[in-house]
Amino acid sequence: MKSNITNDKVIDYINSYYKPLNHRLLELREAGEANNVPIIMRETESFLSFLLEVKKPKKILEIGTAIGYSAAFFAVKCPDAEVLTIEKKPEMAEIAIKNIENLNLENRIRVLKGDGEDMLKDFHDPMFDFIFIDAAKSHYERFFKAACKAAVDEAIIVSDNVLQHGMTVSNEYDVYDKHRTNIRQMRAFVDFLDTYGGTTGLLSQGDGLALTIVRKN
Ligand SMILES: C[S@@+](CC[C@H](N)C(=O)[O-])C[C@H]1O[C@@H](n2cnc3c(N)ncnc32)[C@H](O)[C@@H]1O
Repeated sequence: MKSNITNDKVIDYINSYYKPLNHRLLELREAGEANNVPIIMRETESFLSFLLEVKKPKKILEIGTAIGYSAAFFAVKCPDAEVLTIEKKPEMAEIAIKNIENLNLENRIRVLKGDGEDMLKDFHDPMFDFIFIDAAKSHYERFFKAACKAAVDEAIIVSDNVLQHGMTVSNEYDVYDKHRTNIRQMRAFVDFLDTYGGTTGLLSQGDGLALTIVRKN
């Protein structure tokens, strides 16, 4: 059973104001939602839209591409930015590449196939000013550490799903007791963020977001 962290009526109300950036992105979203692909929630997208408009990033990194929806959203939202997105499953990466080509965004989005941490080992110079972590929930700490190395000072790192439908907060939400490892690892990750040198804020928006400002000095 999946629980919403926030009251369903509140979510419906917030999402009644959801505005897709264009009809082609909406089509991709609707196809993802219809096929149960775990793309960013509408309320998460609305919040990211606001954040990206404030930050105006030039180089965006994403770990966890799936069908390429959020990468395409980043590219459309930030017309001056380049997007690098990393996907572990090769067949999923191929779907993302096709979707990105269909949206004519292939010159702005690069899809790398492989593990989020491993692929970043080839990036020796810090360059990314906005990073979105949205991949395997039990590996966030290693994704985050690799992302920090690739980030410039004052980059923003958004870690999605940190509340895991409430399970990070309380075991009672893990009704079938199936997510112990993810729960333990995500709690450890949030504790890690608490001691990390940058500034982190937790939000209950969507499935829970951790927002971190990277401090390199
Ligand atoms: C929640 S989906 C990403 C959704 C996408 N960000 C969006 O909103 O459109 C998570 C994706 O992360 C990928 N993934 C899992 N482990 C990974 C890893 N170690 N490195 C990179 N990608 C990974 C999964 O295959 C899956 O496609």
